[in-house]
Formats: sequence, C-alpha cells, structure tokens
Amino acid sequence: FRTLDDLDPAGKRVLVRADLNVPMKDGQITDRTRIERLCPTIRELAEKGARVIVCSHFDRPKGKVVPSMSLKPLAEALATALGRPVAFADDCVGPQAEAAAAALKDGEVLLLENTRFHAGEEKNDPALAAGLAKLADVYVNDAFSAAHRAHASTEGVAHLLPSYAGRLMQAELEALDAALGNPNRPVLAIVGGSKVSTKLDLLGNLTGKVDILVIVGAMANTFLAAQGFAMGKSLQEAEMHDTARAILAEAKTRNCEIVLPTDLVVATEFKANAPSRTVPVDAVPADAMALDVGPDTVDAIESRLRNASTLVWNGPLGAFEIPPFDTATVALAQAVASLTQSAGLKSIAGGGDTVSALRHAGVLERMTYVSSAGGAFLEWLEGKTLPGVAVLETNSD
Ligand code: 3PG
Repeated sequence: FRTLDDLDPAGKRVLVRADLNVPMKDGQITDRTRIERLCPTIRELAEKGARVIVCSHFDRPKGKVVPSMSLKPLAEALATALGRPVAFADDCVGPQAEAAAAALKDGEVLLLENTRFHAGEEKNDPALAAGLAKLADVYVNDAFSAAHRAHASTEGVAHLLPSYAGRLMQAELEALDAALGNPNRPVLAIVGGSKVSTKLDLLGNLTGKVDILVIVGAMANTFLAAQGFAMGKSLQEAEMHDTARAILAEAKTRNCEIVLPTDLVVATEFKANAPSRTVPVDAVPADAMALDVGPDTVDAIESRLRNASTLVWNGPLGAFEIPPFDTATVALAQAVASLTQSAGLKSIAGGGDTVSALRHAGVLERMTYVSSAGGAFLEWLEGKTLPGVAVLETNSD
C-alpha cells in the first residue's frame, strides 16, 4: 500500500478517515489516545499544504441523527491536540459539507459530522461513498481500528479516490507484521479473557503461527476443566470442553507449546478484597472460584518470555478490575516492560481490556507497540482480511 511518503498533498483536498470513536462519559472524553495518535497524519498533511477533511464514525447511531452522538465536541478536542483550528460541518456529505470543504484553504482542517448518521455508511452504500469522494481529491485511511468494517467511509470511498495509508494505519500494520507476519522467533502469545467461544478463531490461528501460546483468564478454566480438573464455582463453558481438547491436540501437531495455569488464586465471592488464597490447579475447593493465576504460573510465563523474541498479548490474566485479582496481570506486565526495555523483547499488545490492564500496571508507554484497536486488532490476529486494509492494497497503483 501507499503511504504519505508517496503523496504530495500540497493544495489538494485530502479526505482522512479517522477513528474518533473515543470513550466518553457524561459528555466528557475519558481517553484521548485515539485523538493523539491521529495528530501526526493531520499535522503532516496540513504542514505540507493539504486541505484536510476529517471524517469518522462515533458510537452506533444506526443510521439516524442522534444529537448525543455528534462529533462536534471532537472538533474542539482535535483542535486542542493539534494546536490549530478545526472547522466543523453538520453533515458528512451534501451541500453543507461540500461548501465547507470548498472553503478550506491550504493547511486548514475540517471535521465532518458522524458518518453513521447515514444508514448508507454501514451498508457501504455507493451513493454515500460517492458523496464523500466528491469532497476530496485523495483519500487517506488512518483508522486501522475501524478497518474490520466494510463501510462507505472505510472501504467504499477507497475505490473512488487515489488511496493512501495514514501514519497511524502504517504504524499499526508494521507493528502487527513484526508480531505475526514476519516475526523474530520464538514468538510467544498470551491470550486471556473470559470465553473460549469468542476467541476460537484467534486460538486456532495462533497455534499455527506462534511457538508458545499461553492461555490465561477465565478461558483457561475451560481448558483445565476439559483436562479433568474440578474447577469449583469458576466461570467456564462446559459445552466447550471438546473444542478445548481439540485445540490442545491441534497445537501439538503444529509444534506449538500450550501453557496453562498451574496455580490459581481462588475466592468464594467476587468482590474487592474478598479473602483469597492460592491453590494448585488440582485443589480448587468446590465452593470457590478462580479469579487470577498464581505466582508459579507467572514465573512459568516469565521464564519462557526471557527466551522469546516477540510477544503478542491480548487479554488479562485475571479479573484485574478488582484487587487483589490484578496481581498476576500487573506482575507480568511489569516483567514484560522490563524485558522490552532491557532485553530487546518486541512486545505488541492490543484490545480494550488489555490496554486498560497495561495502563493500570503503569507500563503502557514501555511496550514496543500498543494497538489503538479493539475488534480490528482481534480480527487481524485471527488471520482475517480487514476490508479497510485490503482495499488500500488493491487500490495502490
Ligand atoms: C472501535 O472502537 O473498536 C471501532 O471504532 C469500531 O467501532 P464499532 O465496533 O462500533 O464498529
């Protein structure tokens, strides 16, 4: 695919697909990471004299105008982050958007209203894509985190304009390629989270790509139960036992070592500071549930990490939102951060919970790369084609 290195944007109207779907609470932005990560692309384009037209979805208004899902507050937030003014248009297509785009001077920035206010966005309606294409001379997609959606502003419009990857899109793709595409080996993956059923494709793909797969979080309970351990009241999916055994068998044929917990932190209730204790996996009491992995498991992961060159991490080790069940996740996050800084480990993490967990552990900035994507990061790890990326690759000459 082409990047901003291949584009001379001076005097051109450049439509930038951003992902400004930021977390908000009571009208306040609670995390500005996506805004900050978008800035390099916009700044570079503006400094090179482009007329920058930014579009994005926000939340899920389902094709209707929902005032509480307006992108208007993001114009101000973006202006603050960029240190330059950002104009706003009340629609992403049509006369108002066209007039606002036409009024832009070289180096100026315009933000368009939520693309999902039009039903045609999620349907990838060619009419909406054409309306967007009409605003600009070229298209830059900087929304890796929305690239798993084949929508008018992420896919359709890229067929209609010369298309480029923005700097964030480029960084995400390069980091993911370093993790799984063409990685330094051995590669170790950590997959946590609550359900095997939602991560089946992920586990299936990873056993064929990585050398060591560590399965933690509540989904590990299902694997342990499938191997015959009594898991007490632990969260697990009884109907997935056969599947879990099949994944273990397949990993063996693919020479992928699977690491499961050997000790667990258990409690009889799931609440902050509930009395808890550490037990081996074969001694979970009938009235207790596993809420974290124990120190022996963390040691086992750490010792393998010391020999690994690349780490891909998706999903916390335990119920990290509630102390003390964040202990293993925090300990491992700190070990990963120091191996990344001192031993050259390439550590790549992504997914909403994982990012929160790393932030909670205070090591977000010390990883090699943390993806800003949730669903798109997972689909990429699952080996799926992301429509927003595929179109940049096919439409690159
Ligand atoms: C995300 O936050 O993961 C992206 O912005 C995609 O949002 P969506 O799941 O509503 O399509």
